[in-house]
Amino acid sequence: MSRLRLAHRTELDATSALGIRLPDGRNVLLVKVHERISAFVNRCPHQGVMLQAEPNVFLEASGELIQCTMHGALFLPETGECIFGPCQGRHLEPVVVSVDAEGNIQLAGK
Ligand code: FES
Repeated sequence: MSRLRLAHRTELDATSALGIRLPDGRNVLLVKVHERISAFVNRCPHQGVMLQAEPNVFLEASGELIQCTMHGALFLPETGECIFGPCQGRHLEPVVVSVDAEGNIQLAGK
């Protein structure tokens, strides 16, 4: 079973965040916070827009929370839950990924 490779974990070393477009057209963000990698569809639950104003900038200044630059909503990288802002209590849509022994980040279940 071949899995779609999205990136290598070293690509997240510099920015801790990466925006990717999947072959099915979905825009996805990968983030690494405290060495944990998670992925979500790049669409804010507030107004349905993409989160970033600049390429690959998805984390707020502390590097611990995902931020929507449109109105400043903040999301937990573990669950995608919005904990501050106009969509508080709603969630980013998760994308299940896995990391293999070589550090390849792959779309799970395909
Ligand atoms: S569109 Fe994301 S906080 Fe409003």
